[in-house]
Amino acid sequence: MNFYQFPTDFWWGSASSAAQSEGASQRDGKAKSIWDHWFEQSPSRFFDEVGPEDTSTFYDHFQSDIKLMKQLGHNSFRTSISWSRLIPDGTGAVNPKAVSFYRNMIAELKKAEIEPFICLFHFDMPLAMQQKGGWENREVVDAYVQYAKTCFELFGQDVHLWFTFNEPIVPVEQGYLYDAHYPNVVDFRRAVQVAYHTMLAHAQAVACYRDSGLDGQIGIILNLTPSYPRSEHPADQKAARMADLLFNRSFLDPAVLGVYPKELAQLMADYSVAPHRQDGDGAILQAGKVDVLGVNYYQPRRVKARLNAINPDGPMMPEWFFDAYEMPGRKMNRHRGWEIYEKGIYDILINLKDNYGNIPCYVSENGMGVEGEDRFIQDGVVQDDYRIDFVREHLIWVHRAIQEGANCLGYHLWTFIDCWSWANAYKNRYGFIALDLKTQQRTIKKSGQWIAKVASEHGFEG
Ligand code: NOJ
Repeated sequence: MNFYQFPTDFWWGSASSAAQSEGASQRDGKAKSIWDHWFEQSPSRFFDEVGPEDTSTFYDHFQSDIKLMKQLGHNSFRTSISWSRLIPDGTGAVNPKAVSFYRNMIAELKKAEIEPFICLFHFDMPLAMQQKGGWENREVVDAYVQYAKTCFELFGQDVHLWFTFNEPIVPVEQGYLYDAHYPNVVDFRRAVQVAYHTMLAHAQAVACYRDSGLDGQIGIILNLTPSYPRSEHPADQKAARMADLLFNRSFLDPAVLGVYPKELAQLMADYSVAPHRQDGDGAILQAGKVDVLGVNYYQPRRVKARLNAINPDGPMMPEWFFDAYEMPGRKMNRHRGWEIYEKGIYDILINLKDNYGNIPCYVSENGMGVEGEDRFIQDGVVQDDYRIDFVREHLIWVHRAIQEGANCLGYHLWTFIDCWSWANAYKNRYGFIALDLKTQQRTIKKSGQWIAKVASEHGFEG
């Protein structure tokens, strides 16, 4: 039996986001985000037609919920500020009720000695900004930077760790390539522009934070998907490099190194999809190098050389450059259809150590979505041993990476209380705490009891 001992100052927590937990989505001055709008327009695009109003209503329950965090042994909690709550029109007047809510929530966390890790943008574009073209319009970049500045001024004395964006590639992929999120565009060129403007917005928010004189740190949260080739064959190896370039390095390199990979710029030029840039953008991106990185990890990407010819008349897609590969014998989360590959987290952390200056990082999300968890209730508690195994196995690899010098400072499960998951709504449950949506009752799952012990003992036997 081994005891996996973590540093005593390791951050143990969970992650959530404003749109997925707050509720009150059109109350107390909050304006619509694209999610409120899309749900009103197309409820059938959402699992069971459940929309963003149906959450654990953290907006009303944050005080008692923070007591629950304490019970789980958390010393950190990651969530986001809702831009459309704080500045309903996207620019201009600040909503005083939102200021009170976020101030009170942050104060309550501090009182409980739980460090707030605050993200500024978690997929929830204010509708007013989307109507101006969203991230395709550079004016929205300026509005975001103003929003970020407002957050630093209002909450910067109490928040010492900021993240500009959560998974910035997701609105690009899901909203501009795969028709899974609003605005349901399928267009590679527009997707590239959205990605580019997002990183410009990120970089300017970082610069703005540095100018503010506040003494905390600022970073970005990226969902990194290590890419593994089917074989040693050079064509498969190239496919994996392309997947890494498009899905990881397209955000990781500008965020940590301050520049886009040359190969990516070349690829975009070759296919005539390079974004519109302005003089001086290079310097802006360079100034956006982060202090810290949030790493979200769920699954790897397995690829092989592209076998089928590209249809040049079809829409250009990242998949032009590789094919997905289903590795025989891979371990699956049957409920979610995602591969479980625990070593992936180790590979990410070692890559950051070896190739990205060992940037300080946090596991800002990792987790397991499961359908129909009620089946596992015994004695009133969800017996989610599968989630305990999932977290334990990932933590063993995090531990090993730390032993080998990786600069990983904390672990956050997605999520705290079962949450609304965008178009999937409540199809999959992820929390340490079960939510009864009708009664709003919260019940700690077996995994929640387990993590409390792990946090208090700074590790576990295994
Ligand atoms: C990543 C996202 O940050 C979060 O919003 C989402 O619900 C989880 N992954 C689960 O898919």
